[in-house]
Formats: sequence, C-alpha cells, structure tokens
Amino acid sequence: MSVSRRDFLQVFGAGRAESVSGALLAARGLEAHFAEAAQNGRPARPLVPPGVTEVRINSNENPLGPGRAALDAILGKFPEAGRYPFNATPLDSDLVAHIASKYGTKPEFVVLGAGSQELLKSAVRAFTSPTRALVTASPSFENCPQVAKQLGHPVKDVLVDPAFKLDIEKMIAAASGAGLVFFNNPNNPTATVHGLRTVTDFVERVRRASPDTVILIDEAYHDYVTDPSYQTAIPLALATPNVFVTRTLSKAYGMAGMRIGYAIGQAETMKPLATLKMPYNVSTLGVAAAMVALDDASHIDAERARNTQARAFTVKALETLGCKPTDSQTNFVFVDVHRTAEAFRDACAKSGVMVGRDFPPFEKTHARISIGTMEEMQKATEVFRSVLRPATPTAGRQQ
Ligand SMILES: Cc1ncc(COP(=O)(O)O)c(C=O)c1O
Repeated sequence: MSVSRRDFLQVFGAGRAESVSGALLAARGLEAHFAEAAQNGRPARPLVPPGVTEVRINSNENPLGPGRAALDAILGKFPEAGRYPFNATPLDSDLVAHIASKYGTKPEFVVLGAGSQELLKSAVRAFTSPTRALVTASPSFENCPQVAKQLGHPVKDVLVDPAFKLDIEKMIAAASGAGLVFFNNPNNPTATVHGLRTVTDFVERVRRASPDTVILIDEAYHDYVTDPSYQTAIPLALATPNVFVTRTLSKAYGMAGMRIGYAIGQAETMKPLATLKMPYNVSTLGVAAAMVALDDASHIDAERARNTQARAFTVKALETLGCKPTDSQTNFVFVDVHRTAEAFRDACAKSGVMVGRDFPPFEKTHARISIGTMEEMQKATEVFRSVLRPATPTAGRQQ
C-alpha cells in the first residue's frame, strides 16, 4: 500500500499527524545531546552556531533515509505500533524466514538484532573470555573492543597496513588461540575492502591454526562497495563452522533509526547469539519496513550510484586541496587533513558541517567524512576549502 501524506493525515487526524511527523522530522535539541553526553562521560560534539543549518556527515547514514517502499510500510504499519513484533503482521519470524530464503538457508541460520550492534555485543559476550581474546584491527569499528574491555576480556589490536587495509598476516598471527576475530569488510573508518579470495584465504588459515576461534565478518557497508574483487562472505559463512556475517539496514537501506540488523552463519554458531538476544528486540515498524526493503533492489542500486557519484566528487575536491583519502569502498572517506581530527571537526562545525569522531591511532592526522547528498557535499567541500587551504601570507607584512 502506498501511503500519501493525505492518507496519513486521514488515518491520524491532522493535528496528531502534524505532531507525529514533527517529532519524526525534528532533530533532538542540542542541550539534550550535551546533557546526555556529559552524563555518559562522552565528549560532546562541537556546537553549531545559532541559525546555521547543519550538514550531518558524521555518522555514515544514508542522507535520503528509507526508500519509498520501506517508508510506505512504516507509515502503513503505524496503526499496528501497539502490537508486539510476535503479534503483528508481518511477524519478526517472517523476517527471519525471508532473510534465510534470500540466501537459500534455514531460519536457524539467522538471528535478528536491534541494529547489528546488538549482535556484535552478543558475539563478544559469547565468544571471548578472560583467557580468549578479541582480535580487531586498529582502527576499526569500536563496538566489539568497547564491550570486551567492559567485560575485562583481553583485546589484541592489529594496526592496519600502509594502505589502511586490515593487515591479513598480522591478524592471522594474532588470531591463534583467540575467542573472536572482528573482521570489518569494508572497514570503518578506513573505508578499504578486501576481495573475496583474500577473505576466504584468511578464514581458511585462521581455522587451520585455531579451529575454535570464531570469525565475525561485519559487512555493514556491503551495498556501497564498487571494487569488483569484493563479494559477500555469506556463502562462505553458511558453509563454514565458527564463521558468521553481520549486516545492517542502517546504512544503504537508510533505516538507522529503525534498528534492524542480522547475523547469518551455521545454526551451531548462531545459537549463542540467539540465546543472548533480548526478547522482542526488533520493532514492528522496522520488521515491516525490512520485509519490503530487502526486496527493493532498485532502491539499493540507485543509492549505490548516488553515493558513488557524491563520493567521487568529494575525493576529487579533497585531492585538489592536497588531502588524499584512502581507497573508499563505503559511504565515507578517511583522509589525512594534516591536522588533528578535533581541529578539523571544530573548524567545520563553525560553518555547520559535522564530520566524524576521533579514530586513534590516526586522530592526530586523519578525519572521517561521511558522504551526504551531492548538494551537501558541495556545501561541505566549500567549507573544507576554507578550513584546509593554507593561509596566504600577506605581502610585505610580518606578523
Ligand atoms: C562497521 C559497522 N558495523 C556495525 C555498525 C552498527 O550499525 P547498526 O547497529 O546501526 O546496525 C556500524 C555503524 O556505524 C558500523 O560502522
């Protein structure tokens, strides 16, 4: 069912719809953000001057949000928001079955998460211990090492190689006797990818040396890759014990606020994740949207094409400024800005452009910039130009 704004107003009544859509569209107040940040002991993001419109290219989101079909499903399901996901249509188990059938496997091979982060967290809880380390790249997505540290489990960080790719040889060496290897492909924040042959070889070698080590291949940015050597490792995971892939609908599918992710691998490997899963962890609206979004290949193709074009524009603009990004296969770039990420972030924020957080050990030189719409990147690159261009010395005057 396609839901127009008029249908939506008829379902909810104009006043209520305005307040619902207002709440949907409005960003939370900055004060709330800072209060929460202070409470959690996290550094607050820089403040945007009053009256300046923000370009939010700091969290690797799809700037256009969900595709038309998913949006219709979300709006159409509002009346069922009162139902638990096991009691609504479609059911959460329908989504599990749908994902399983897409990959020609059984529902026991799939576990849903409230975003893929729930699954990463569960994997660390399930597969690491005080004597079984987590192996991760440095830098990589921080969720797994953060959880391991909270649990007091050891973490082995393996620096990325000179091309900012996961260092295969060093990760294989570190994996021996480890509980879990987090293999982020493409890697956030370095944006680089390994082809399927390299991933397959990596898995075989880790398993030969350390068969009890579980390998988590996080493919959050799968849909944005344009390197032809890359393919998903899902068939490899389905055929191999102790290997699984995580995916999310938060990136190309534009549904970060809907919190839908999944893990896929052999049933034995999935069992601990299913056990640790929070009851009713996915929302009724998210399930309905995911059911149709996963079948909307044309939306993903269009989103990949849009991102590829805006990414190429951004890379070129940065290169013109003498800042060469790594080979980006994602919806963000990782770039040497010749100053600290903090200095770059604060300077950009003054003009309303929000870029990514610190990524040690490269926080003194590199920034992560997500790819927004072409219009947003035109504005952002103008701001980068003023922030990154070296000041022209004033002739005849000493300062
Ligand atoms: C590599 C990677 N994995 C997982 C996630 C988590 O996404 P979500 O919990 O929204 O699915 C992110 C989010 O930025 C990510 O970059």
